[in-house]
Amino acid sequence: MPGPSTKRESCRAGGMGKKERAEERQQRREERLQEIARLRQIPYTDAQRWWSSETIAVVTGSNRGIGYEIARSLAAHGLTVILAARDPDKGDEAKKSLQDEGLEVVFHQLDVCDSASVEQFANWITVMYGGIDILVNNAGVNFNLGFENSVEFAEEVMATNYFGTRRMIETMIPLMKPSASGARIVNVSSRLGRLNGRRNRLGDVNLRNKLAVEESLSEEVIEATINKFLEQVKDGSWISGGWPQNFTDYSVSKLAVNAYTRLMAKKNSDRPEGHKIFINCFCPGWVKTAMTGWQGNISAEEAADTGVWVALQPTEPTTGNFFAERREISF
Ligand SMILES: NC(=O)c1ccc[n+]([C@@H]2O[C@H](COP(=O)([O-])OP(=O)(O)OC[C@H]3O[C@@H](n4cnc5c(N)ncnc54)[C@H](OP(=O)(O)O)[C@@H]3O)[C@@H](O)[C@H]2O)c1
Repeated sequence: MPGPSTKRESCRAGGMGKKERAEERQQRREERLQEIARLRQIPYTDAQRWWSSETIAVVTGSNRGIGYEIARSLAAHGLTVILAARDPDKGDEAKKSLQDEGLEVVFHQLDVCDSASVEQFANWITVMYGGIDILVNNAGVNFNLGFENSVEFAEEVMATNYFGTRRMIETMIPLMKPSASGARIVNVSSRLGRLNGRRNRLGDVNLRNKLAVEESLSEEVIEATINKFLEQVKDGSWISGGWPQNFTDYSVSKLAVNAYTRLMAKKNSDRPEGHKIFINCFCPGWVKTAMTGWQGNISAEEAADTGVWVALQPTEPTTGNFFAERREISF
């Protein structure tokens, strides 16, 4: 409940300059990160630990960066992790480095853009484990750094970030194991794909509403949005098309991932007890990985935290939500 002090703060904020507001935001963020560092030290209790070494978690694109740290953390919590990577050499190396830490990790090749690779992966999972409990859709690409905003690789960005995620979800849902605690899907997304963010949002209010409202949201609407963007990329009209202004192709792809998360959560919301699947997404923040050219303000290990926290939600997991820094945020 906003009390008088909150009001006073917002009055103060109203009188603040840009620099002071940025400093205040930065301070709040640092305090939250410290709080999370403290929360990470608190071990899950036996009652909270619904998982065991028989619990199978797949993390896509986990040979490096945030995916690697998610795989590492899930394995450290005692789950069996399938480290999936498109390049067998990189995947094998990452697996070995985690195994050297004594973690239970198995590597399998997986290119989320390649239907044959995804099918082969699913067949292998079925034979080896009979199914999975957790899917973390982490594999992603972004070809811009800093203030760049090229759309040269827009098709690849959509193919990987949105269609790759969708292909994995469609393929893996039938393989999700029945369990009392429910299976979980976590999509690694970004605040850049927010529908109603203060900045970087879609200019077309009708399209924004269509994607926001449950009744009108569908795979067709999401795909039509992507196709419209890609057509405008081809004919050069995308700049004035009302798309997000920063990292435009990447932002559109993550906007699609967010919408798809909500859609799939809704579609799977009436599964019977014992067959539930909880589907959420999260933004890891601005992270020091290859994707950002090692810019960013947090490490991949810190960035992995919220994803792992969402995947391991102990009781009554939420579904269809968007998280950042262990808190729900708006789409
Ligand atoms: N870094 C950030 O600030 C930030 C912020 C918000 C969201 N994210 C999201 O976090 C996720 C991880 O990013 P990151 O920062 O850790 O970047 P990263 O270090 O570049 O890692 C991306 C991973 O995805 C893999 N990948 C790319 N295309 C693939 C495909 N077709 N099939 C399978 N794997 C594929 C890469 O494999 P290769 O090694 O073979 O290329 C790599 O392992 C992405 O979804 C990204 O959009 C990152």
